[in-house]
Amino acid sequence: MRTNVAELLSSKNFLQEIQIKGWVKTFRANRFIALNDGSTINNIQCVVDFENTDESILKRITTGAAIAIKGTLNESLGKGQSVEIQVSDIEILGDSNPEEYPIQPKKHSFEFLRENAHLRIRTNTFSAVMRLRSALSFAVHKYFTENGFYNFHAPIITGSDAEGAGEMFNVTTLDKNNLPKNEDGKVDYSKDFFGKETNLTVSGQLEAETYAMALGKVYTFGPTFRAENSNTTRHLAEFWMIEPEVAFNNLDDNMDLAEDFIKSVISYVLENCKDDLAFLNNRLLDEEKGKPAAQRSEMSLLEKLQFVVENNFKRVSYTEAIDILRNCKPNKKKKFQYIINEWGADLQSEHERFLVEKHFKCPVILFDYPANIKAFYMRLNDDGKTVRAMDVLFPGIGEIVGGSQREERLDVLKQKIAALNIDEKELWWYLDTRKFGTAVHSGFGLGFERLVQFATGMGNIRDVIPYPRTPQNAEF
Ligand code: 4AD
Ligand code: MG
Repeated sequence: MRTNVAELLSSKNFLQEIQIKGWVKTFRANRFIALNDGSTINNIQCVVDFENTDESILKRITTGAAIAIKGTLNESLGKGQSVEIQVSDIEILGDSNPEEYPIQPKKHSFEFLRENAHLRIRTNTFSAVMRLRSALSFAVHKYFTENGFYNFHAPIITGSDAEGAGEMFNVTTLDKNNLPKNEDGKVDYSKDFFGKETNLTVSGQLEAETYAMALGKVYTFGPTFRAENSNTTRHLAEFWMIEPEVAFNNLDDNMDLAEDFIKSVISYVLENCKDDLAFLNNRLLDEEKGKPAAQRSEMSLLEKLQFVVENNFKRVSYTEAIDILRNCKPNKKKKFQYIINEWGADLQSEHERFLVEKHFKCPVILFDYPANIKAFYMRLNDDGKTVRAMDVLFPGIGEIVGGSQREERLDVLKQKIAALNIDEKELWWYLDTRKFGTAVHSGFGLGFERLVQFATGMGNIRDVIPYPRTPQNAEF
């Protein structure tokens, strides 16, 4: 029976005949193969009887080669492993020419690996990150399913701009060099595939709201697209977003949900991905050793994850946060690059990070933002100037969640739409939710890659998605 490395490493069935297939990580002293098949971060040691193995075969056991092995499982006397395979037969399934294979058993820079995104998954770091990404994705579906939510598939091609930020990728079958124009000079989309202007979705929220108003609790988890030209370690043009939407939830319920959800998925990986997390934890500890003491992180990756699970998130209104930022000294020498003097300004990431990392030293939920810096659909407060918005801010990441209680009053919503010059006709279907059986409801969006960044400690968002899409970059 063919088995896998993870099973063998925890097996105590010694002297059992086994068959295994995988890829060579290293081959030492013409004798010891470190074999991996993706089932775990750990390799299994396979001991080759080199005196009785053909020289022509030994030469082909190179890093990256695919091989099939038959042998027996033995208790290992060597350090660092409890079991090993005594090889009785070895077959080379696919050679890997060491002169050409880019992934050598040494440290490669992340820049180099990004240029080889199709092969970087063969490194320990990327296999650990992508197994964690898969586990987190499962934990997301598990959490919502166990809590009575329905998974709702939002459309990818949409006719609306949910965020009103104009950062959309246009989808058209028209000849872009020869766009037909109307009398008023605007593009005439009547001959386009859909007969109207369409875009890749920036958020499934508006559609999710229509479903929440019948199914009660729904969530979407799918790709979203933003043509924002920001070259940062936290932005992608194509990212995955998790968006729950719940009928009858107010903003406090929404905060409770976001906090409980995040804690639950982090707990899941702490419990179920111990080996990969231990590997990433050590990787970061090594990296920290190279830094001056003052710049080293106070907590290890595992401690940070545990901290999030065990501590309450701090809930602070935008107005309180502005007071803190006005009165603080961010740093002995430096000031903020952008000094906030006026109530109403949007927070920059340096302010968010100050609040989380320096002031409160824990995840923070900021709420009740000024209406004029937030999207049209958020519930206006009685003060007439703030909305029931919330952002969850995380150490090392900044904003990980953006959400709100939605404006459920048809007249107020229509006024806001008009004030922003949005064409009401485009949103007729959305407004119907407020016309027929409207109710208080709330939801949020969590950027999945930012969650994976937090859980793996990876510094750059391009290293937590298989094939990152960023400005000037869609090679693969
Ligand atoms: O704050 P945002 O723009 O909120 C929305 O889209 C709402 N419609 C969500 C809702 O209420 N259902 O985006 C939500 C989250 C952000 O907090 C961030 O984590 C992530 O999506 N995000 C990005 N992640 C990677 N790259 C980008 N360009 C991102 N833009 C937003
Ligand atoms: Mg946001």
